[in-house]
Amino acid sequence: MTTKKPYIKPIIRRLEARMPSKFGGGNAIKTLTHIDGVSTESLLEKFGSPLFVLSEKIIRRNYREAHRAFSTRLPRVQFSWSYKSNYLDAVCRIFHQEGSWAEVVSGFEYQKALLNGVPGDKIIFNGPDKTRDDLILATRNQSLIHIDHFDELYLLQEVAKETHLRPQVAIRVNMDTGIYPMWDRFGFNYENGQAWDAINRIVKGGQMDLVGLHCHIGTFIMTADAYEVAATKLASLALETWKQLGVSIAYLDLGGGFASKNTLKGAYLPGNETNPDFDDYAEAITRVLMKSSFPENRIPLIILETGRALIDNAGYLLGTVIANKRSSTGKKNLIVDFGVNILFTAFWYNHPLLPLKTHHSLMEECTVYGPLCMNIDVIRDSVVLPALNPGDHLAALYVGAYNMTQWMQFITMRPAVVLITEKGEPVVIRKAETDKVIREQELIPDHLLSFTL
Ligand SMILES: Cc1ncc(COP(=O)(O)O)c(C=O)c1O
Repeated sequence: MTTKKPYIKPIIRRLEARMPSKFGGGNAIKTLTHIDGVSTESLLEKFGSPLFVLSEKIIRRNYREAHRAFSTRLPRVQFSWSYKSNYLDAVCRIFHQEGSWAEVVSGFEYQKALLNGVPGDKIIFNGPDKTRDDLILATRNQSLIHIDHFDELYLLQEVAKETHLRPQVAIRVNMDTGIYPMWDRFGFNYENGQAWDAINRIVKGGQMDLVGLHCHIGTFIMTADAYEVAATKLASLALETWKQLGVSIAYLDLGGGFASKNTLKGAYLPGNETNPDFDDYAEAITRVLMKSSFPENRIPLIILETGRALIDNAGYLLGTVIANKRSSTGKKNLIVDFGVNILFTAFWYNHPLLPLKTHHSLMEECTVYGPLCMNIDVIRDSVVLPALNPGDHLAALYVGAYNMTQWMQFITMRPAVVLITEKGEPVVIRKAETDKVIREQELIPDHLLSFTL
């Protein structure tokens, strides 16, 4: 018996000679049949749709690549996993197994790092919102507290007095690195002298140990040169601190912000062809330190809080086509079962979309919408895909960073996350949310228990 072939609606299209366009040759239909040897269709069958999938192999490979780029150039380097970019415990533990410390920005993330077994003195505590209790705990644990503003500095002075302990601190410095708009809402400004003022108050106050200087100049920085400027400014502050105040700065923390291989909306060429790589960033930072006037044995430890560049390409979101339709202008629309509530980064990136198996070779430009009854739920404004029917599957690529932390339960539930281990075994690292999980948080006051309609 022969199986009936699926019906594909015909479209009228202008015939074009197969001359390469500015984007290259004709469209090759790529597919994502497997992730690390595991069939993607079987993952959806087993764990449901939509489904986040992370590759342990790629995460470790990324980390080792980044570590190699820096450790072969600099005497001492330390990565500190930026929890907010993906704080699923299994993910954090992969980075900790590789040697990464933890970089956290809230009491919640701080607790997560402690529960993951990170020693207190290997936790960097960033962010503008640290409570008195957070600061007391971090001081007791000898964590590295990166002060964001003067009010925090004063609060920490009180904590030092109260606990009779010396907090181990750095200040976050914001600065002009040629990247605009400038990220000046966090930390103390370099150019107007605020950072130098904060350093003086800490050192002359005599209650804390100023052990580091920190900056995080922005995110998805497309030019490595900005890090050269940042490293130059941090190094000059460190040298001044030594010369004028006699305090030796143990580390310079250059934050995160390296671009992943994603493609920003509006970019002319794909990110995996144009964005700097770890070697570019490492070279820019190394150039500064090698020509700086630190004595050889006093070159500070370089800390990096890289997030997205270490995990974006290790994450996939697999999903299912709900429907096909035509817009009022005749443009093809595809509706899929994952929306911007779980793929938050669709607002910034043109995530590549790939069918999971080979389909008819007829390609058509379409808009891909998520399942939410909200106009903003657009996964891709315009992407060329083969004809996909309801029930067919597709994947969004490079989704590893920020989606599994910024996702929200809105209209639909958050799906499961599966990790493909190095041995090629898929394991659930976060269960799919059920409506029970959401309803459990709600309480109904007595007067609203009943009604008649
Ligand atoms: C202080 C700090 N460090 C590190 C990161 C990680 O940045 P990215 O994921 O761009 O590397 C962030 C993210 O915004 C941050 O705020």
